[in-house]
Amino acid sequence: MIGRADARMPRVGVTGLGLFVPERVLTNHDLEKMVDTSDEWIFERTGIRERHIAEPGQAASDVAVPAAREALERAGVRPEEVDLVIVATASPDMLFPASASLVADQIGAVNAAAYDLLAGCTGFVYALAQAYGVVSGGLARRALVVGSEALSKLTNWNDRGTCVLFGDGAGAALLERVEEGGFLGFELGSDGSGGPDLCVPAGGSRAPASADTVEQELHYLHMNGREVFKFATRAMVTSAERLLEECELTVEDVDLYVPHQANRRIIDHAVRHLHLPPEKVRINVDRYGNTSSASIPIALYEAMTDGALVDGATVLMTAVGAGLSWGSALLIWGDGK
Ligand code: ACO
Repeated sequence: MIGRADARMPRVGVTGLGLFVPERVLTNHDLEKMVDTSDEWIFERTGIRERHIAEPGQAASDVAVPAAREALERAGVRPEEVDLVIVATASPDMLFPASASLVADQIGAVNAAAYDLLAGCTGFVYALAQAYGVVSGGLARRALVVGSEALSKLTNWNDRGTCVLFGDGAGAALLERVEEGGFLGFELGSDGSGGPDLCVPAGGSRAPASADTVEQELHYLHMNGREVFKFATRAMVTSAERLLEECELTVEDVDLYVPHQANRRIIDHAVRHLHLPPEKVRINVDRYGNTSSASIPIALYEAMTDGALVDGATVLMTAVGAGLSWGSALLIWGDGK
């Protein structure tokens, strides 16, 4: 799916951002004591030094709530004024109810519809596109999109091939109509033939949880790292190129590139192939690991707080993830209310 914002439709932009990460930090040196790995291996292959890990009992909705509250505060919007809450997550509290319903309840968004969006690490970009459509089309005035993960709960801490990669955290964005700037377009896609390359095999209707599935460790995240790597490097580039072309822009028009923070090597490959200068690229995978749906809004938040996200800046975001799925969004920054 690809689309460019229709000039006859109202502009929709981001008017507030929020961030929350659990306090506990797990370093590569900590991991050295848990599995047969080393700081050197992890850093060289992924660019990751440390990640935040949720406490026992802390689920995706708990991680989402502080980020959601901050986004509303920054936008100057009261919770009861929110019409829609979408939580993009690969680690929902439960299969149902939606974590979004729990978040809406916690923050007091009593007038909001709420649902979860499961598109792996691409979830936040997918959710932005949905919220954009709903607000632009007039179904909602304010939509809160939260990318939130407690992926550590689905991680097999005995599997060195996956446990070194992921981290927990949340980023939130409030979408409203704006006078200037706003979203320019989206490109989203999926290829389910690669589904088995990145999945949690059991606990759904395909393989309901049983003593057997637990014994076989099928309730944990499983990944074919090499296949996902090949897919990710390809899709990060093609998705961005397609969207830029659709919006009649070039890489030179991009002021800030906020890629999904899966792995430093995947980001570097995309930057090289897109010919983006390093100063335009946001990288924080070293401090957070791969926070899946939360990685783009966390990086966007940090760009805002350290002054890199200036009014009028053209921001390119691209994510890839389970599905397999991919998605890009182009946004002109500025709350412009
Ligand atoms: N420490 C030390 N050695 C390790 C570790 C580790 N943590 N993990 C794997 N190894 C070993 C392997 O066993 C293998 O050893 P062998 O050659 O003796 O068999 C060797 O290192 C090389 O393994 P590869 O899998 O070939 O390593 P690669 O260079 O491909 O890096 C990695 C692995 C980092 C996982 C890479 O494949 C990758 O980044 N893939 C994409 C992962 C990703 O981003 N996933 C998330 C996508 S988004 C989402 O929706 C969640």
